[in-house]
Amino acid sequence: MKKKPLIMCVVGARPNFMKIAPIMAQLRRPDSGLAAFLVHTGQHYDAEMKHQFFDQLGIPEPDVDLGVGSGSHAQQTAEIMRRFEPVLDEHHPAAILVVGDVNSTIACALVASKKGIKVLHVEAGLRSYDRAMPEEVNRVLTDQISDYLFTTERSAQENLAREGIPADAIHFVGNVMIDTLRTNLTRAIPAAKTLGKDADRVLGGAVGFAIVTLHRPSNVDNPEVLGTLLTSLRRVSDSIPLVFPVHPRTASRITAGGFDGLLNTPRIVRTAPLGYLELLGLMQQARIVLTDSGGIQEETTALGVPCITMRENTERPITVTDGTNTIVGINTQKIEVAVADVLQSGGKTGRIPEYWDGRAAERIVAILEREFSSHL
Ligand code: UD1
Repeated sequence: MKKKPLIMCVVGARPNFMKIAPIMAQLRRPDSGLAAFLVHTGQHYDAEMKHQFFDQLGIPEPDVDLGVGSGSHAQQTAEIMRRFEPVLDEHHPAAILVVGDVNSTIACALVASKKGIKVLHVEAGLRSYDRAMPEEVNRVLTDQISDYLFTTERSAQENLAREGIPADAIHFVGNVMIDTLRTNLTRAIPAAKTLGKDADRVLGGAVGFAIVTLHRPSNVDNPEVLGTLLTSLRRVSDSIPLVFPVHPRTASRITAGGFDGLLNTPRIVRTAPLGYLELLGLMQQARIVLTDSGGIQEETTALGVPCITMRENTERPITVTDGTNTIVGINTQKIEVAVADVLQSGGKTGRIPEYWDGRAAERIVAILEREFSSHL
């Protein structure tokens, strides 16, 4: 019997894990025409940044863990490339599949492309048009060297066309992260359980609660910006209690900047980074989410929960035009007005974007089976 063509999937950082879960599940269907192999670069390695997600989402243990860990962008990207090349040489995949826009995405795409191995990019074509954002550089470069570009919204197709990507390489398939969200809605862990002894403080009042997440270098690496944002969030907490799961990058910047005291109020519950099912449960019950994450802008749109994005732009414009997202930048007045607005009027309700129907991975794998299995 001929061997099935091998698709080598790559993950590296937290936001990759929920994107790869439904793709691996489809590739490993018993009747799939393809074989799958999972490489974890090790960009994120802490239990709370990795294992919780693999366990909760049923992602198979990686076949290879490159164990690169943290470093400067150059160090991390170079180390991933150096360690990924021998894995390609050993396994000869028909193609590699990368997701999102993290350093692992561009590093592995570049290695494969130079070896003449096809590159499949899931979540292609998103653009913030802000090159100061490391992810934007990763997105533009990964798309330029990808052979199959799978998009989550129609604006992505227009961005890619402008950059000269041929139309027949682009496939509008929907959003794999929303596949994961829909699969796990009924498994989400209730807020009361996640919050434990703090539950009463947060869930007891009539106003509800807000979730805060903050990790973009542009928001947390500069102490002045971080201090201004945290001061504003402290004011917001007077009108609605906050739950703030703190990313490791942010935790170290808060301590370095001497800002721990700002979060020290009964109106703010500070937690370690949460697992997928814990955060999903909290988001489902939240009145508002304040964030600088890309993925959370999409998840709140899918859940119909108002999202206030503390960034100057978004690469996911459909969350603003169709969804529940409002972009406020790091202007503290705008942040506080947006919160007051939701508390008064309920905020945007939005609608579910086209193809965010839980079947994106199915569409992707159907295309791959057609394209790669036919070469058997
Ligand atoms: C990375 C991604 C970003 C994504 C984010 C989600 C890039 C360029 N950035 O940013 O797009 O939104 O992940 O979390 O790829 N650390 C730990 N434990 C870990 C991982 C990291 O403590 O398991 C700490 C380290 O001190 C590290 C810092 O967090 O230096 C930043 O990690 P890194 O992967 O470089 O970037 P993120 O800010 O997480």
